[in-house]
Amino acid sequence: MNSPVMQGLNLNTPTYVKNAKLVAWVAEMAALCKPSSIYWCDGSQEEYDRLCAELVAAGTFKKLNPAKRPGSFLACSDPSDVARVEDRTFICSAQKENAGPTNNWMEPAQMRATLQPLFDGCMAGRTMYVVPFSMGPLGSHISHIGIELSDSAYVAVNQKLMTRMGKAVYDVLGAEGEFVPCMHTVGAPLAAGQKDSAWPCNPSTKYIVHYPETREIWSYGSGYGGNALLGKKCFALRIASNMGKEQGWLAEHMLILGVTNPEGRKYHVAAAFPSACGKTNFSMLVPPQGFDGWKVTTIGDDIAWIKPHADGKMYAINPEAGYFGVAPGTNFHTNPNCMASLDKNVIYTNVALTDDGDIWWEGMEKDSGKLPDHLIDWQGKDWTPQIAKETGAKAAHPNARFTVSATNNPALDPAWDDPAGVAIDAFMFGGRRSTTVPLVTQARSWTEGVYMAATMGSETTAAAAGTQGVVRRDPFAMLPFCGYNMSDYFQHWLDIGAKVQAAGHKLPGMFCVNWFRKGADGKFVWPGYGDNMRVLKWMIDRLEGKAQGEETLFGVAPQYAEITWNGISFSADQFKTVTSIDKAAWVEELKLHNTHFDQLAYHMPKALLDTKALLESRLAAA
Ligand code: OXD
Ligand code: MN
Repeated sequence: MNSPVMQGLNLNTPTYVKNAKLVAWVAEMAALCKPSSIYWCDGSQEEYDRLCAELVAAGTFKKLNPAKRPGSFLACSDPSDVARVEDRTFICSAQKENAGPTNNWMEPAQMRATLQPLFDGCMAGRTMYVVPFSMGPLGSHISHIGIELSDSAYVAVNQKLMTRMGKAVYDVLGAEGEFVPCMHTVGAPLAAGQKDSAWPCNPSTKYIVHYPETREIWSYGSGYGGNALLGKKCFALRIASNMGKEQGWLAEHMLILGVTNPEGRKYHVAAAFPSACGKTNFSMLVPPQGFDGWKVTTIGDDIAWIKPHADGKMYAINPEAGYFGVAPGTNFHTNPNCMASLDKNVIYTNVALTDDGDIWWEGMEKDSGKLPDHLIDWQGKDWTPQIAKETGAKAAHPNARFTVSATNNPALDPAWDDPAGVAIDAFMFGGRRSTTVPLVTQARSWTEGVYMAATMGSETTAAAAGTQGVVRRDPFAMLPFCGYNMSDYFQHWLDIGAKVQAAGHKLPGMFCVNWFRKGADGKFVWPGYGDNMRVLKWMIDRLEGKAQGEETLFGVAPQYAEITWNGISFSADQFKTVTSIDKAAWVEELKLHNTHFDQLAYHMPKALLDTKALLESRLAAA
């Protein structure tokens, strides 16, 4: 061991860690945060099992019944720490205008001065875990390395499932390699002899801070999801979007799937949907009856890093290695592959516990045909159907999650870990809209596709703290995740398309979708889930030149007869309900596009203003 001692604390640096910059940073952070010990994660199974056992002993984890869910655990968080905290998330670029109007901003020096006293001594009484991870296949030219320093063993074990975490990262990093420093604390130092809580966090003070120029992440006060697993939203989206802008690639809030038709031709689709709008479900889609020979395979369920290549194709990797998915609503109807993935070796957070040591969440009654008689809810309280009826209490928190390794997924694509990535044939953009936006349309040009994505709206969900069900503009599903000025991000998309096209290459198709239109009775009209295959097939037909479609003011739409209706009865009238473009609704919609564009006026690309003007004139003529 090479073990410099900092202020009486042994750094315990393993001999295989050769990166002097890393060792110096760990020493500096240890001096600041003052943990009682430092532990360098090696990513081994033995380590995972040991840390999980320690979490059980600490009361953070409950071991689930091994006969029901082998190797699985349940964690229940503090009620103040259940979702991403967008209002506490900051992009501290040197210039305010580079963070743009959609991000919280503070001058970097001021933020550093704010955080310094909070981080000073923040890990007292705790272990500081050094968590090395690769976002993307180890050694891929598209991948990047991060090192997270965290005082949460829950974070360390989640990172083992969510990323390529462990010793091998140091081989790639070498003596000189670059890494993104990801600093995380739950913000709950322990005084000598103080008893820890099962879910330490800071209920009143939270900061999720990014410095794009120096590519640093500093997260204080939360142990939950994207606030704490810093490889995910903080690195793979907010910091990586900055890297992509500088280096000519895209970091996107997109699932990636492979779809193979009965003739054996395979296509790759990347799709952006806001949080908790079914990205995991769509990425694991099981084609319905009547789609014999079609196959859908998962490359990723949440994030895509996409690089244009000299061959003119855009290659995508999933930087993650696991799924941190929303549990409620997941069942054998909505996502059978996901349910199969959740059989074993899963970390559940904020779901309910059954009397026989298994887990449960709202939506599972659709599989069993009945509600359980009794549960312990995510807050440790008794739950019965009667209590739920009287009080409306949810057994699982609406943003309850599972963390599971991608290799658990029976529909995993063989190329999911390919360092070269997969060539994207189509992009999809979809919000949650009960009205106005049709089931599917294809953009007539790259610019129109960028416009569709830039003006995407969605009704908010429980993935972020705050009011739910309100329509907010969520461009490219990146509103909470774009690490720089949104209008510059639109321009970046336009530039990437222009570059590919200028080199004489064909661009991927761009499609706008909406699974969530409701009828006059307030119910969803489109069946969704596996039936989304019908839309996916139409898209493939378009790529293959087999479907003519129909011009609308908002792109090319399918004709009723172009959708494959095998195995379902869905009338032309119902089809009209989900595809109609209502003039009055679009007049209102365009007013909202105007407000949205006004907010983003600084650096708004002219091409998008021109596209809006064209849309307005088409609407006026309709
Ligand atoms: C997520 C999110 O956790 O988008 O993926 O909130
Ligand atoms: Mn997401």
